[in-house]
Amino acid sequence: MSEGKRAVVCGVFFLAVFGLYSGFSPVLGQEGEEVNPKKLFEYHCATCHGEDGKGTKRGRELKAPNLADQEWQSKRKDDEILNAIMNGKNKMPRWSDKLKPEEIQVLARYVRKLAPKKRS
Ligand code: HEC
Repeated sequence: MSEGKRAVVCGVFFLAVFGLYSGFSPVLGQEGEEVNPKKLFEYHCATCHGEDGKGTKRGRELKAPNLADQEWQSKRKDDEILNAIMNGKNKMPRWSDKLKPEEIQVLARYVRKLAPKKRS
């Protein structure tokens, strides 16, 4: 391969890498932003509660309630939900030593959003 051709191959290679890099960078740029409740819930809670809050097989075995049930929601106060996440409840693990207080707040609010909106 002549010097000239090698330079062209190198150039193309660098352009491709740079193109990929700049293509990914917007995604990287989103990292470190404010807590994403959906992601937190899917990461920490969905093993038992399911992504939709209705409860997985494992969750049901442990007697997790259907968090997406409007009736269940109406029987729970915000404090109770917050408290259950912080301190745990029966088989529900406590989270106060694993999650930051603001993450727990955000999750408690997210739990409220799991129930379908009541149409009046
Ligand atoms: C190991 C399985 C498991 C995981 C993981 C889990 N939960 Fe639970 N959760 C339960 C069980 C079991 C209950 C039912 C507790 C009871 O009332 O006996 C429950 C109950 C709840 C309740 C209702 C509390 C109440 O007042 O009755 C909320 C809200 C809740 N979980 C939110 C969460 C959130 C948010 C997370 C993630 C940070 C989470 N759970 C992770 C098993 C789990």
